[in-house]
Amino acid sequence: MSIRLSFEEEFAVLRIERPEALNALSSALIRDIGKALEEVDASAARALLVTGAGEKSFCAGADIKELMNRSLDQQKRGAELGQSVFAALDRLRIPSVAVVNGYAFGGGCELALACTFRLAAPQARFGLPEIKLGLIPGYGGTQRLPRLVGEARAMEMILTGRTVLADEALRIGLVNRIVEAPLMPAATAFAREFTGFGRLALQFAREAVQRASQTTLNEGLRTEADLSTLAYSTADADEGMKAFVERRPPVFKGC
Ligand code: CAA
Repeated sequence: MSIRLSFEEEFAVLRIERPEALNALSSALIRDIGKALEEVDASAARALLVTGAGEKSFCAGADIKELMNRSLDQQKRGAELGQSVFAALDRLRIPSVAVVNGYAFGGGCELALACTFRLAAPQARFGLPEIKLGLIPGYGGTQRLPRLVGEARAMEMILTGRTVLADEALRIGLVNRIVEAPLMPAATAFAREFTGFGRLALQFAREAVQRASQTTLNEGLRTEADLSTLAYSTADADEGMKAFVERRPPVFKGC
């Protein structure tokens, strides 16, 4: 097992633990991430933090040694596996935060892209260097990166394979914030900015925002109307508005 899933206070923490290979993703490791996500979804955790063991690397991408000498059918199934596990991360019921402690290259960058938020240590490095291997990103990078930073910047990163440092990543919107060590307390403090809100409202808000890049404006507005109406039907909405008029902090119950 090269991942570790732990539950600490209201957080689930998923750590990739393969530092000898800079936390590169073997197929077995990707399957383990998939199983861990099922466990997270069934838990009472309010946010998932994803990080890599060691100070050097978040994740250096798919395991290049494993990618060699596979049949095209195996390569296709490999891409589908990575895509489906990262899609499960994207669709998790709770928000996720990539805590990028070092290299986030190839599949590692794509892992961070599938999280709801990205925090970067000052030494974090991002890149989709597949082109240097004669390849292209296969775990969602060509689709999620342009949605996040725009087509021109995504095209440049993917066609040149160049490395983006933390400052630039922040400037182009690839990461939400740069955080100083110790990273995990900084990440939990960031996550606590939203974990106290109603679980359903957080879920509806994420779904509505995600829809923005997947559909037309009119369709997206219809989704927003539906989901915002659904939010009014929750006990948490009654509580939130009642607490406002009673001038007290709300107590959300997630229903
Ligand atoms: N796969 C397999 N092993 C990897 C790896 C990877 N992606 N990245 C690093 N490693 C291994 C190295 O082989 C090395 O192991 P050995 O000592 O047994 O040889 C160990 O990790 C340490 O790596 P380096 O000696 O290379 O460390 P460095 O500090 O000199 O360089 C690095 C760090 C710049 C990240 C460099 O390791 C590197 O370029 N790694 C590959 C990054 C990459 O190309 N990622 C994309 C992979 S393809 C992909 O992800 C496809 C997709 O879309 C899903």
